[in-house]
Amino acid sequence: MSSALRKTLVAVLFAAIFIGSVRGDFEQWCVADPQTPDDDLLAALDWACGQGGANCSMIQVNQPCYLPNSPKDHASFAFNSYYQKFKHQGGSCNFRSAAMVTDLDPSHGSCRYDYFP
Ligand SMILES: *[C@@H]1O[C@H](CO)[C@@H](O)[C@H](O)[C@H]1NC(C)=O
Repeated sequence: MSSALRKTLVAVLFAAIFIGSVRGDFEQWCVADPQTPDDDLLAALDWACGQGGANCSMIQVNQPCYLPNSPKDHASFAFNSYYQKFKHQGGSCNFRSAAMVTDLDPSHGSCRYDYFP
């Protein structure tokens, strides 16, 4: 490959990465896998909000993410809080397969899901 061609390819690659990050294509959130039974979600939710160190204040009664009050929604918020906080320190979006990564922002109304680059 010629050096000019190689430089062009590298430039195109960097441009694509740059445009992709500006467009937000690389943003990812961690949410409950809808296939997971509620019991498993609730157990994972307890762990995430306790030992896991997720910030679960927004899913408490009268807080913006309390509604909908379902295992799936509360677990999603807690999983994402944990994931955003710890993803750069080895924290993964797994929770014994109760969780999955999505590139759709799960925020709704005044309930905002964190995204940290
Ligand atoms: C938890 O989240 C709330 C709402 O975003 C924030 O006000 C609070 O400071 C956070 N608590 C901790 C311990 O990070």
